[in-house]
Amino acid sequence: RFYSVIPAGGIGSRLWPLSRADAPKFLHDLTGSGQTLLRDTWDRLAPLNGDQRIMVVTGRAHRAAVEKQLPELRDPNVVLESEPRDSTAAIGLAAAILERRHPGVIIGSFPADHVITGESLFRSAVHEAVVAADAGYIVTIGIRPTEASIGFGYIKSDGPLDIPGAESALSVDSFVEKPDPEVAERYLAEGTYLWNAGMFIARADRLLEEIGASEPALLAGLLELAEAWDTPRRGAVVDKVWPALKKIAIDYSVAEPAAAAGKLVVIPGQFEWDDVGDFASIAKLHSGGRKANLAILGEGARVLADSSSGIVVSHTGRMIALIGVEDIVVIDTPDALLVTTSANAQKVKAVVDALKLSG
Ligand code: GDD
Ligand code: MG
Repeated sequence: RFYSVIPAGGIGSRLWPLSRADAPKFLHDLTGSGQTLLRDTWDRLAPLNGDQRIMVVTGRAHRAAVEKQLPELRDPNVVLESEPRDSTAAIGLAAAILERRHPGVIIGSFPADHVITGESLFRSAVHEAVVAADAGYIVTIGIRPTEASIGFGYIKSDGPLDIPGAESALSVDSFVEKPDPEVAERYLAEGTYLWNAGMFIARADRLLEEIGASEPALLAGLLELAEAWDTPRRGAVVDKVWPALKKIAIDYSVAEPAAAAGKLVVIPGQFEWDDVGDFASIAKLHSGGRKANLAILGEGARVLADSSSGIVVSHTGRMIALIGVEDIVVIDTPDALLVTTSANAQKVKAVVDALKLSG
């Protein structure tokens, strides 16, 4: 029995001012497909699970928008958070609820805000992952790295494992979440590392066991929540327990320690994957790999460009003219304007942090 979980909670602060607390990354169409990333994610998972076995974990504030995107989503499969408590709490709560409802269930957690091409390759990687999960492993999907990005987890793989039905599974030597730039350079040069695609597939009881091994108080809270979830006590227990849960990413609470203990395996994904984490990667996605192109996104965008490249996203209808600027990033929204370059796209997060500090 296999369930998918879509944690939809990150704001995507490197995509400010497009992505906001009230309009997070997963509610945007960043590919030009005409659909939000969340809808794309659902459409990718539905062939694996059917509509009835996909659970979405999101903030209360996003409920209406999420349900509008996903009319098939059933009430029992919606988990609403009163406030974000990071990915261990989000995925762990889904695991705990599903384990109570369907003991022995295998879950796969898939981020709501990635771009994947090659759906059948994606599905065959997940099929192998489910087989390895059934054997008791915590399973990740690995992506061949193309640059020394500091935004990803790095997985050092060993040799192949002997798991019938999961022939491409590799044992994992270590997992390092978001290394420093010099370390990332070294990993890239060594050539034995894969990026973590942010997907975790495991038996729910195994995942909870790993959370408990590193964060026992967090596990206790999750189990208390799950016990009350399908009862009239849910509201009271959520109010008491949820705000006290430790905020920690699952990469630190589960992936790093499980790798150290030899319990993590990786299936190298053969599909194309992009986490569209900043405007440089969106520009690349839309330029078809050609550097000289200018990508223009946004309904009613009006852009005049002369020998310029990069990306313009306009949601104002204001006329924007670009003359002789290369790799430019212009993001125009009604109340905020961002101008930077592709090379500086990762630094946008610092602007958001500064804005938060200044209130
Ligand atoms: N519901 C909910 N609540 N979801 C959350 C929360 C939360 O509080 N925090 C994070 N998430 C969700 C995000 O929406 C996303 O789907 C997933 O958990 C991962 O969180 P991100 O914030 O996007 O993590 P990241 O991009 O910095 O890093 C992760 O993904 C990389 C690949 O894109 C890690 O897993 C890295 O190791 C990985 O390389
Ligand atoms: Mg992410």
